[in-house]
Amino acid sequence: MSSPKILLIRRAQIILPNGELIIGDVLTRDRQIVEVAPEISQTALATEVDAEGLTLLPGVIDPQVHFREPGLEHKEDLFTASCACAKGGVTSFLEMPNTRPLTTTQQALDDKLDRASQKCLVNYGFFIGATAENLPDLLLAKPTPGIKIFMGLMHGQLLVDGETALSAIFAKGVSEAPAKQARLIAVHAEDQARINQRRQEFANIHDPAVHSQIQDNQAALTATQLALKLSRKYQRRLHILHMSTAEEADLLRQEKPSWVTAEVTPQHLLLNTSAYQQIGTLAQMNPPLRSPHDNEVLWQALRDGVIDFIATDHAPHTLEEKAQEYPNSPSGMPGVETSLALMLTAAMQGKCTVAQVVNWMSKAVAVAYGIPNKGAIAPGYDADLVLVDLNTYRPVRREELLTKCRWSPFEGWNLTGWATTTIVGGEIVYDKGQVNTQVRGQALTFL
Ligand code: DOR
Repeated sequence: MSSPKILLIRRAQIILPNGELIIGDVLTRDRQIVEVAPEISQTALATEVDAEGLTLLPGVIDPQVHFREPGLEHKEDLFTASCACAKGGVTSFLEMPNTRPLTTTQQALDDKLDRASQKCLVNYGFFIGATAENLPDLLLAKPTPGIKIFMGLMHGQLLVDGETALSAIFAKGVSEAPAKQARLIAVHAEDQARINQRRQEFANIHDPAVHSQIQDNQAALTATQLALKLSRKYQRRLHILHMSTAEEADLLRQEKPSWVTAEVTPQHLLLNTSAYQQIGTLAQMNPPLRSPHDNEVLWQALRDGVIDFIATDHAPHTLEEKAQEYPNSPSGMPGVETSLALMLTAAMQGKCTVAQVVNWMSKAVAVAYGIPNKGAIAPGYDADLVLVDLNTYRPVRREELLTKCRWSPFEGWNLTGWATTTIVGGEIVYDKGQVNTQVRGQALTFL
């Protein structure tokens, strides 16, 4: 029998589940945290990690990423993406179905799980994508965090944009379960009809800034209103992906059913339409960047609990693809390597607390998706942890990035809270610039 893997993290500033900060030790055995205390005596066989001056957080769970495998591996693959996760302090991710083939069947889901088990350094889960025809797959596929619906902006089969087609999905839960507990529906909410019409109005404009006018706030609001209407009608568990506008935040603030959750990306909090002037099409994503006013309203909604958590929508495209003239340039930007440092830097600037960042990037995600034993530093929880350095600032540098696309919209930003050590299932997967490519994550389970 092989000996147990034991880690003893010493003298860390530990964020406890109640948000309190203590200086102490954490002992992990195999994949679990077994003890958290001001001082733990030396244990035979333990690998010690000296965390003096560093802060220990539960590993980040990123609930919306596009990792491109299978089919689009020239942009990213599960190995490169999970290396980038390890460097960014992301210990689990939920990945979207717009790969090739689309993840719309159990077979495609099994294929992704199999690939991930072979090459993923962190824990993984995969959404099943809705088409107008695959209702049986949507109800039965497992394990999956939920059903992803592109209400706009996905070409081909993944687009489900009419109220009738959407109703068919919202109306059907997993057999017998009350709808509120039935399989979660996560929506990319942008109204395709409005976007089609505005594309014609703004045709022949090649300034990427027009992207935010074509796919405007109203396009997002209309789709979010429809998703909320259907969720209420069928009392169906709903999650609103990457909410981007003040109007949607205000709508949710007025009346948010208890079974609805929403997320926001760091880029919708920290970047706005002024980014087009600085980085051109690298700032192009769906839903688009908005105004400074939207940034502020989204921040307030997050602090007030109207928005529940953070996701990156990591959506890598090559620099060559991004260099095409708008509108031929693809939408999307990478994010898993920078999200935690961006949010912790915001915390250091007084925009929020470190405990709130932990909640938004770990605990609240685990609760919303029913991922057991993750999101807290306490005995019995999984040993998915990240040590961060809140004392030094370092810029985002292109040459240090591990994502295959090798760029970031935040290049040059001077950030603190970078991960120094990332631990997945009790094993050190990243330490001071080095990735341990032998570590493998596990498939996530969902209650
Ligand atoms: O900008 C985006 N790009 N938003 C999405 O929702 C999809 C993504 C992609 O896959 O490139």
